[in-house]
Amino acid sequence: MKALITLSTFILLFFEVSGELEWWRTMSLYQLCPRSFKDSDGNGIGDFKGIQSKLHYLVESGFDGFWLTPFYPSPFQDFGYDISNFQEIDPLYGTMKDFEDLLEMAHNMSLKVIIDFVPNHSSDQHEWFQKSVKKIDPYTDYYIWNEGKFVNGIRVPPNNWVSVFGGSSWTWNEERQAYFYHQFAKGQPDFDFRNEKVRNEMKDILIFWIKKGVDGFRMDALPFIFEDKYLRNEKLTGRTHNPNDFDYTYHDYTMHLIENYEMVHEWRNVIDQYNQSNVMMIEAYANISLTMLYYTYGAHFPFNFGFITSINQYSNANRIKHVIDEWMKYLPLGATSSWVAGNHDQHRLRTRFGPDIAPIITMMVQLLPGVAVTYLGDEICMEDTYLTWEETQDPQGCNAGKTDYQKRSRDPVRTPFQWDASTSAGFSTNPRTWLRVNDNYKTVNLAAQKAADKSCYKSFLKVTKLRRLPSISKGELKTKLFNNDVFAFSRELKNEISIYVVINMGNEPVTLNLEVFENITSKLKLYHLTTNIELPTGSIVNTNSVKVPARNAAILFSN
Ligand code: NOJ
Repeated sequence: MKALITLSTFILLFFEVSGELEWWRTMSLYQLCPRSFKDSDGNGIGDFKGIQSKLHYLVESGFDGFWLTPFYPSPFQDFGYDISNFQEIDPLYGTMKDFEDLLEMAHNMSLKVIIDFVPNHSSDQHEWFQKSVKKIDPYTDYYIWNEGKFVNGIRVPPNNWVSVFGGSSWTWNEERQAYFYHQFAKGQPDFDFRNEKVRNEMKDILIFWIKKGVDGFRMDALPFIFEDKYLRNEKLTGRTHNPNDFDYTYHDYTMHLIENYEMVHEWRNVIDQYNQSNVMMIEAYANISLTMLYYTYGAHFPFNFGFITSINQYSNANRIKHVIDEWMKYLPLGATSSWVAGNHDQHRLRTRFGPDIAPIITMMVQLLPGVAVTYLGDEICMEDTYLTWEETQDPQGCNAGKTDYQKRSRDPVRTPFQWDASTSAGFSTNPRTWLRVNDNYKTVNLAAQKAADKSCYKSFLKVTKLRRLPSISKGELKTKLFNNDVFAFSRELKNEISIYVVINMGNEPVTLNLEVFENITSKLKLYHLTTNIELPTGSIVNTNSVKVPARNAAILFSN
């Protein structure tokens, strides 16, 4: 386990193979949740054939590939992150043949396919867990079991660990007469990674999918893989008196253990052994040092969640620039950044940032160096969908109870993609869909946005098109602060057109002198304004007096 980082991993991690950048270093990646993308058979749930029918949309939108969230057999207590067979397809989505066809079609269209790898836990319906309950070897110790302790003659869990979704992370199992441990829902028992057989199973799963031909893995919930082997009590934060709240304790003994990183290193070795062009991207909400440590241990990149966790629509320019600079400062030499502004666990980008700022964030995600990740529907500015308590399915919402479910439920961000103004937004022929379609679909939909002169989607296309320019894929990044409301960044590469992005978070228009960027030309071409107002785009402007309207961002080219 205590493997050292080998020189070969180091070389592969930090340097391009042959002068050309490896495919994943510049990719624009789409996060595609099969359940909510496109339903082909009218049962109200998205499926593989539905995805196949829409692959051209991903190409037209400039994506280089997509990450499929879990499609494995599952009782769907947690959006499919409760897996009951890691090497099969849930019949709701299709068959293994449908998956293989999808992969082939995607590859024929030059789209890469990355899949979700969920190693921390399985579903309690997984055969391994069922056998573990019955102490059938070799599964007896696949999961974390403990008989608990007695307090005043009453049996209680062994410690105060709280699950992410709320409540004790220990659940009593009558049949085995022991508690099992789960970081997430009760239906998601955690594996015991100190068991070598479990570690080997996980490697076999990776190998299985690599051999199928996938292009990489998004690795789920990595901060949670190992827990303290002495099961020590967590310290209390004092922030809440509710022992069922995840925030009740710190998580020193249940998150970010160094063994998690050692697993990353082992998985990287497996991947490299079978297919060196496969990519490994890590889901970890962690501080900057712990996030960067994933690079050191062999990940191609961890998701950079700074635009989710560290800024909001009220952040000033200083703050946003700081979040970008901090990431770039800590980034290891030669490593590739990623920029993520939304996903299936967070409120929608448009809902968090509002109509003016959301496109500015998208612009940054697309034009900063490295990988850009777009969550299903954010490219058409979909908004959170209001769902009633009765309609709520997410365990995080359900566990919060009727009064608080809206604060915690992730269902509002997971409703079906809005293709057009027909039944169920063109997602399904069925008027009843697995989660209700947003009421605004008659106006907020792809078809309407394609037809409009100006729209969120058109703006997305205009910005993402620039990713093909050498200064965006390979150029240097410089950031400059003008005042609390305004900052700018440049993407420059010798002998290539330079790009300047000016962001005005303030409520007043500004006129700026961009000559603070060394070597800038005296005239610039205005390519795009996020809200397309006031200034005609395409016009030539003087570098020393660039006008940017309030709560707007401008993209300019060196002339
Ligand atoms: C992270 C996933 O993004 C989230 O949706 C899920 O609930 C947890 N991991 C548990 O698998």
